[in-house]
Amino acid sequence: LKEEALSQIEKASSMKEVQDIRVAYLGKKGPITEISKGMGKLSAEERPKMGQLVNEIRTAISDQLEAKVNGLEKAAVEERLKKETIDISLPGRPIKRGNHHPLTRVIEEIEDLFLGMGFSIAEGPEVETDYYNFEALNLPKDHPARDMQDSFYITEETLLRTHTSPMQARTMEKLNGEGPVKIIVPGKVYRRDTDDATHSHQFMQIEGLMVGENVRMSDLKGVLQSFAKKMFGDEREIRLRPSFFPFTEPSVEMDISCFICSGNGCSVCKGTGWIEILGGGMVHPNVLRMSGFDPEKVTGFAFGMGPERIAMLKYGIDDIRHFYTNDSRFIKQFNTL
Ligand code: PHE
Repeated sequence: LKEEALSQIEKASSMKEVQDIRVAYLGKKGPITEISKGMGKLSAEERPKMGQLVNEIRTAISDQLEAKVNGLEKAAVEERLKKETIDISLPGRPIKRGNHHPLTRVIEEIEDLFLGMGFSIAEGPEVETDYYNFEALNLPKDHPARDMQDSFYITEETLLRTHTSPMQARTMEKLNGEGPVKIIVPGKVYRRDTDDATHSHQFMQIEGLMVGENVRMSDLKGVLQSFAKKMFGDEREIRLRPSFFPFTEPSVEMDISCFICSGNGCSVCKGTGWIEILGGGMVHPNVLRMSGFDPEKVTGFAFGMGPERIAMLKYGIDDIRHFYTNDSRFIKQFNTL
């Protein structure tokens, strides 16, 4: 009986078979139970011997069953491990990386260049008061130059800022006439313009302001020259043309020499060889005075540029709307820059 049971266990290859063997041999209706029941009929001498034998067989079978169960479980685990092995020789699947918006890149690049020249970065509110946006910049309520910048008014006294210049006044005002000031101000600005390839009702500006003793026009020119070369390449020249802004006197517009003609960069120069990239000038004495600085003691220069324009020139982008429509095919082209 024992041999038979052990050999069946040996052959069993599934948990179900093992379970069936257990029931067949050790179960209530199995031979071991039968024999135990019949023990009462045996003599007093035979009974302990038989008992011992039955116990021995039962233990042997149940030990063997247990060993088999362990063996089967181990085999199952091994089987699973084998199936789940990772093939480390497979090439990895590339992870899709996002990238910065081209405009963000250009702004960060400009910021880095000015940080390198000792400027720090300031930011101001996009919802601005009439006072900072206009009045503190020498643009009183009836000033005709207010028309240069069609505004989005929110109330009579508040509007979406039309330029980053209000930060000139906000920054100086906090310093109680104590210079020097050397900041750039990147930020969004808004104008009531009809969107087309070169106009957007919302765009970016980067303002620059430097105020201190003996700050001169030549300093403005030097800073801008250095910026233009770093941004567009050493072979770029700049030129300043007279212009007008109520908050600078004298005022200038800066052109850079055109790119060696290729693609879109060419048409924007319209045959003159120059392209305008920013406005600036010497801070008007009235602006200094209104913000608590003494124009007899300090002077300053300011400028404002449009990073979209600069990005368009640098990368040959032909439509400002590309920056704001968020077509990922446009943005992805700047992945490797
Ligand atoms: N704020 C002017 C504009 O938006 C640019 C500018 C800034 C001009 C600083 C002079 C000085 O057109």
